[in-house]
Amino acid sequence: MTIPLRLGLAGLGTVGIGVVKIVQAHAELIARRAGRPVEIVAVSASSRKKNRSADISAYAWEDDPVALARRGDVDVLVELIGGENGPAKALVETALANGKDVVTANKAMLARHGQTLAEAAEAAGRALRFEAAVAGGIPVIKALAEGLAGNAIRRVMGVMNGTCNYILTRMESTGLPYETVFEEARQLGYLEADPSLDVDGIDAGHKLSLLAAIAFGCQVDFDAVHLEGIGAVSIDDIRLARDMGYAIKLLGVAQMTGRGLEQRMTPCLVPEAHPLAQLQGGTNMVVIEGDAVGQIVLRGAGAGEGPTASAVMGDVIDIARGLRLPVFGQPAAGLVAAPPAAVSAAAPWYLRMTLIDKPGALARIATALGDSGISIDRMRQYGHEGAHAPVLIVTHKASSDDIRHALERFEDTGVLVGAPVALRIEDV
Ligand code: HSE
Repeated sequence: MTIPLRLGLAGLGTVGIGVVKIVQAHAELIARRAGRPVEIVAVSASSRKKNRSADISAYAWEDDPVALARRGDVDVLVELIGGENGPAKALVETALANGKDVVTANKAMLARHGQTLAEAAEAAGRALRFEAAVAGGIPVIKALAEGLAGNAIRRVMGVMNGTCNYILTRMESTGLPYETVFEEARQLGYLEADPSLDVDGIDAGHKLSLLAAIAFGCQVDFDAVHLEGIGAVSIDDIRLARDMGYAIKLLGVAQMTGRGLEQRMTPCLVPEAHPLAQLQGGTNMVVIEGDAVGQIVLRGAGAGEGPTASAVMGDVIDIARGLRLPVFGQPAAGLVAAPPAAVSAAAPWYLRMTLIDKPGALARIATALGDSGISIDRMRQYGHEGAHAPVLIVTHKASSDDIRHALERFEDTGVLVGAPVALRIEDV
């Protein structure tokens, strides 16, 4: 008789209930694949009485989730409470201290405390797995840490917040402004309780910092992620970028450069022929570039009951199989802090501005660009009536410092109406 792997499940929200459903629906299939049964023995959530779409009556109940981590009949603690600190962190620390393996979907906690928790797990000889923390149902941690382990990773990119992708693609398809689509997303229940986690790029930045640690063998450094949200992306820019052959995405990029580790989560233009540009709605996409494999594109649901529970169960089944891997793909004690790159790699830029329509206006802008060392690739002035001319410029490669310098020079030209928009064009 094989010994079952016994789970303590903390958190019975969307993902927790998804895990219950998979364990119940696929008991036999999981036992065959894992080589032993996987059972839930105890659960904890904020309310016992809440109506749930799965039957949890067979499981022991703990009011205090930390009690799950101390139970003698729990082998693996599944943490699905969320939050950077508070009960989730206490729970994970207690579980590791009590000899339990841990599976979590908590990106915020790992982005902040991943190094300490990984060291604690590895010192205790326990697993700490987090596939569900990044890009929901896409097995991207497994791809990076296992399937691509023979590659030097050049770059990791991705659209890793489905809500932002929903908002941007919905703005484009309806022509509605950001504020209206944001409200629509709120009513559909897409936004986190604190929407700034989504729209300011924080949630996606957490995910990027975890992927960067695995890809480049360094300590997680969320504070070094350059974050810009989507709140300033206008329907005009979405339309004009498309007119120039690009889509605007909240794109995460991590790459190791000669100047250090570059991590940014910002609205970027991507060429419309690339799969990233074609990503619609709440879907996620992660693009990984390795020296041997080339470019890999992974696409799938980044959130939701089934997809995120699927990722949790992949980790649980690996633990049941006895698979042990370092938390970030190599022993945590040996991970070093990578110096953050102060300046991002040069790229072409999209510049949109409105000029006073008078002789020499465009020449002044071209001079300001030239004086900043920036060369123009393409330029378009749109038909207009009245005294103001909308102008779009796509530059050749320029550093963000050069662009900043040019924008400062624009202010001195006396021909600008309002603030110009500058968005990076990612070379994908
Ligand atoms: N709020 C996230 C998203 C899902 O919209 O993708 C959880 O990380």
